[in-house]
Amino acid sequence: MIAPKLLYRSGSQCFRRSRVPSIPCRSVAKTIFRRSYSLQTDDTSIKSLPGLDPSKLSVTKTITPKELVPSEELVFGRTFTDHMLSIEWTASEGWLAPRITPYQNLSLDPATCVFHYAFECFEGMKAYRTADGSIRLFRPNKNMERLNKSAARIALPTVDGKSFTSLIAQLVQLDSRFIPDSRGYSLYLRPTLIGTQRTLGVGPPGSALLYVIASPVGPYYPTGFKAISLEATDYAVRAWPGGVGDKKLGANYAPCIVPQLQAAKRGFHQNLWLFGEDEYVTEVGTMNLFVALRDKETGKPELVTAPLDGTILEGVTRDSVLALARERMVPKGWVVSERYIRMAELAQASQEGRILEVFGAGTAAVVSPIRKISWKGELVDCGLKKDVEAGEVALQMKSWIEGIQYGDEEHEWSVKIETIINHR
Ligand SMILES: Cc1ncc(COP(=O)(O)O)c(C=O)c1O
Repeated sequence: MIAPKLLYRSGSQCFRRSRVPSIPCRSVAKTIFRRSYSLQTDDTSIKSLPGLDPSKLSVTKTITPKELVPSEELVFGRTFTDHMLSIEWTASEGWLAPRITPYQNLSLDPATCVFHYAFECFEGMKAYRTADGSIRLFRPNKNMERLNKSAARIALPTVDGKSFTSLIAQLVQLDSRFIPDSRGYSLYLRPTLIGTQRTLGVGPPGSALLYVIASPVGPYYPTGFKAISLEATDYAVRAWPGGVGDKKLGANYAPCIVPQLQAAKRGFHQNLWLFGEDEYVTEVGTMNLFVALRDKETGKPELVTAPLDGTILEGVTRDSVLALARERMVPKGWVVSERYIRMAELAQASQEGRILEVFGAGTAAVVSPIRKISWKGELVDCGLKKDVEAGEVALQMKSWIEGIQYGDEEHEWSVKIETIINHR
């Protein structure tokens, strides 16, 4: 088994982990060791093995096609399509031939390392059926980049993003009958990578399985937006400097459920993760958070989200909101900032009537407007009028992003699956 070499970053310098502490890669270290915010890995040893080869794909079609669930009865993540894509990897042979097979159970030894040490990472992306009948993926390159960062961090192999996307596109094409053609519906895709070595020894897995399952989903808000309320969690943290909060590891999600249940018990839809003594606002449930507020001195509107410091998941929707805001809102006088924002700053802005709106952003809902946040016994108002369920920025972002996803606006972010398959 080839162990990936671990690198860690400190400021602009990167250090190779070795018995000699803190040896800089490029120059002699003058910097005093600081804890890295986001450990990066150098997986060049893994890359020298055979890569993913889409030309080796075998397809075994189901002989018992499933009945389609009526669109209005779809529940997120409960219904799956007829097929799945699987690709095995071993440390000695690299990526083996990809297979599309009928959707089926996995059979794994009880000692398989994924069950004991959480060698698992995943992605969440969607395929959309557009008005012209074509099917498109939204910024799949971003999901591939993130999958590889997650995989490398837990000593699992990385993949060539373009080859993997083309295989996903072939699965989507084969199961395209499951994608309802109404607006708001889509096929949720769940690429999953697990360590499959049968061992209780703690070490890098000598084998892995990358698979993709697909689930038709309906609109997150079938009857229009419903603004949600949050409870700020100050008694637990989701992520921390030097941790893995910026990676999409299954192990990051299970510990978030109890605080979410606590919030629900007190009548809130989700919990808002704060970080540190300064109580920085970070993420909400499985979404990145955006705050639109007016600057105290200048009165200028500002759209703020937390910076990518290693504690924030690098959301594809977050990146899309930021890019669209910079392109289309900055010319209208907005300031767009990736900066720390404290819960106290948010509460003060609310008291002073300067909060315009607050919303979450993620693949599932695109945007999710927030009405109020419970914090230290007070309810912080997030700027929405009583009879209004979404602010202008959230509505505008949803319209821009869905317009691109459903092909109303031709945009490089939205790629037809035939194009992906033909240009791999
Ligand atoms: C913790 C967390 N933050 C943010 C997001 C939003 O990311 P994306 O926009 O890529 O869906 C997700 C979505 O999966 C998430 O799990």
